[in-house]
Amino acid sequence: MPRVTSLQLIPALFSAGGAIAASGAGAGPAAQAAAAAAALACGLLAARTLGAKRSDAAAEVAETVRAAELRAAIARADAAERSVDLGRRVLARLPQPLLLMDAAGRVIYANPAAHTLFERLRMGEHFSMSFRNPDFLDALADALDGGPARSIDATLHGDRGRALHAHLDGVIAEGEDPRARHILCLFEDRSQAMQAIRMRTDFIANASHELRTPLASIRGFIETIQGPARNDPEARDRFLGIMQTQAERMQRLVDDLLSLNRIEMNQHVRPDQQERLGTLAREIVAALDPVARERGTVIEATDMSAGPLVRGDRDQLSQALGNLIENALKYGGGKPVRVFPAAPTADRPGMVGLTVADQGEGIARKHLPRLTERFYRVSVKRSRDQGGTGLGLAIVKHIMARHRGDLTIESKLEEGSAFTLWLPSAEAWETPTPHADR
Ligand SMILES: Nc1ncnc2c1ncn2[C@@H]1O[C@H](COP(=O)(O)OP(=O)(O)O)[C@@H](O)[C@H]1O
Ligand SMILES: [Mg+2]
Repeated sequence: MPRVTSLQLIPALFSAGGAIAASGAGAGPAAQAAAAAAALACGLLAARTLGAKRSDAAAEVAETVRAAELRAAIARADAAERSVDLGRRVLARLPQPLLLMDAAGRVIYANPAAHTLFERLRMGEHFSMSFRNPDFLDALADALDGGPARSIDATLHGDRGRALHAHLDGVIAEGEDPRARHILCLFEDRSQAMQAIRMRTDFIANASHELRTPLASIRGFIETIQGPARNDPEARDRFLGIMQTQAERMQRLVDDLLSLNRIEMNQHVRPDQQERLGTLAREIVAALDPVARERGTVIEATDMSAGPLVRGDRDQLSQALGNLIENALKYGGGKPVRVFPAAPTADRPGMVGLTVADQGEGIARKHLPRLTERFYRVSVKRSRDQGGTGLGLAIVKHIMARHRGDLTIESKLEEGSAFTLWLPSAEAWETPTPHADR
């Protein structure tokens, strides 16, 4: 764990490098070595004066010995200074915010990460001026009183609210009075981990809720058929029809959940097939043609069979494209849906784009950034009426992530929407840019 390693490293750096001495708390090796060098320089001058009175040979020997001592002292001072410099560089590079406070709780060192986290941090000020969290201040008071090392969770409020985990420990420099201990404080920003936990919890709650609704409806109808509608064949048939629809809805939801899970599990597995997007598009368009006809419309696809190859998982790419075309049919107002190659753009070098465009109701701008979130729908009712699960675009997004691709959405209310899948061409994939693996 980097936290433990860096914690073990820091007291050593400070005591060996004399950084505490630099803060005025006592003389460290660097200062001692410098003082020794100065004393030796004085000695050397004296030796020169004295030597004039002795024999030349004896004076020369004395001078040589002292010169050697002086060089050694200067070398020690240089080494100590380099060690301080290295220590400071290490701390400056540490991604975790780190602070050192004196025995009065005043900040005497803060690395750049700490300055970024605590914007109001000032050297020499009590740390409570920068971070007022009561739990943390209690822990700090305890540490200043000589308490043992401890870790606490504390929230940093403000517009960049952060879930922090702080580790506090007392540090006493060599030869220093134990009462004048310094407090080392290392922070870990756990906001992202907390966010991930929250998202997972929300997801499970959403998925359960989505399943519970049709389940409750099916149970209700079973009771009705067993009870009041027992002898009413007409009502029974009608209810069985509704139950069938609800069961299909549950089936779609479970299929989409499993699909999402599978894609997530393989997120870091490199796709190993080469596909021509145009050929895939032709197949999907043919498969969805009956769905379009049922809705009284058509899918107009540009012939792209000569287009470039992409590296991809055939089933997943078909699923992504199928989801976009299904959406365009569902929300496209019964007007023709077009599938065509996207014009290459300068900001996506080596990428191949395929657009699915409809002439439907469009999507208000405020929804666009959230559309690929699981279960996010502009209108839950409309989505359900169309047999939607709210997972289609989340699936597309995950498939694109696995393919080092992207999904872009453009939409204008009353005019329609255009969803574009961007994928690196097979050629670009083989010669990745330095950032491609991130
Ligand atoms: N082509 C489109 N036109 C208008 N709205 C769309 C379109 N595609 C997706 N949406 C909106 O995005 C939401 C999420 O889409 P999706 O994840 O596929 O879920 P679902 O289709 O199951 O509702 C839809 O409910 C709808 O509100
Ligand atoms: Mg959908």
